[in-house]
Amino acid sequence: MHPDLEEILISEEKIQQRIKELAKELRKEYSEKNPLCVCILKGAVPFMADLTRAMDFPLQMDYMAVSSYGNSAETSGVVRILKDLDTPVEGRDVLIIEDIVDTGLTLRHLITLMKTRKAKSVKAVTLLDKPDRRQTDLTPDYCGFVIPNKYIVGYGTDFAERYRNLPYIGVLKKELYQS
Ligand code: IMP
Ligand code: MG
Repeated sequence: MHPDLEEILISEEKIQQRIKELAKELRKEYSEKNPLCVCILKGAVPFMADLTRAMDFPLQMDYMAVSSYGNSAETSGVVRILKDLDTPVEGRDVLIIEDIVDTGLTLRHLITLMKTRKAKSVKAVTLLDKPDRRQTDLTPDYCGFVIPNKYIVGYGTDFAERYRNLPYIGVLKKELYQS
């Protein structure tokens, strides 16, 4: 385990197992729809890569970068688009792929945006859901794991751009983000 962590919350094996299950669920809805999978950079990259490789049917991928956190552990509530999609979403079945839904403000904003752009449907799959901190009545359509209100890192998620390369999800030691 990385020395900056208090504990491993979700092991590499559990993540990979759950991703296979999620892909099966998604197959039921999307196997005939050629969905546009929208990866939210940077955190969702490992999840997108593993999930889409387990989705054995036609799909397309695109990427979007938004900012909500900067280098602090508190959300600003402001969502800024840093990189937009290359693909038109009009008439498409859009599947937003997120690493973690916390306050829900980022996802709510993105869903509204895709609807404004006339997507045929908009749903979201998140690896992690932290419902305790929700500031809007949003429930992700597909979710890997519901987790307690702790600051986690790894498997794409970061603190100040660190720890994204850990293959598991861990709880960061409090003294590292409260100092
Ligand atoms: P929301 O708008 O508050 O739902 O923020 C979602 C985004 O905040 C996620 O995509 C993450 O980038 C980041 N985030 C929220 N909680 C955590 C955490 O515990 N660790 C790392 N990043 C987090
Ligand atoms: Mg994110």
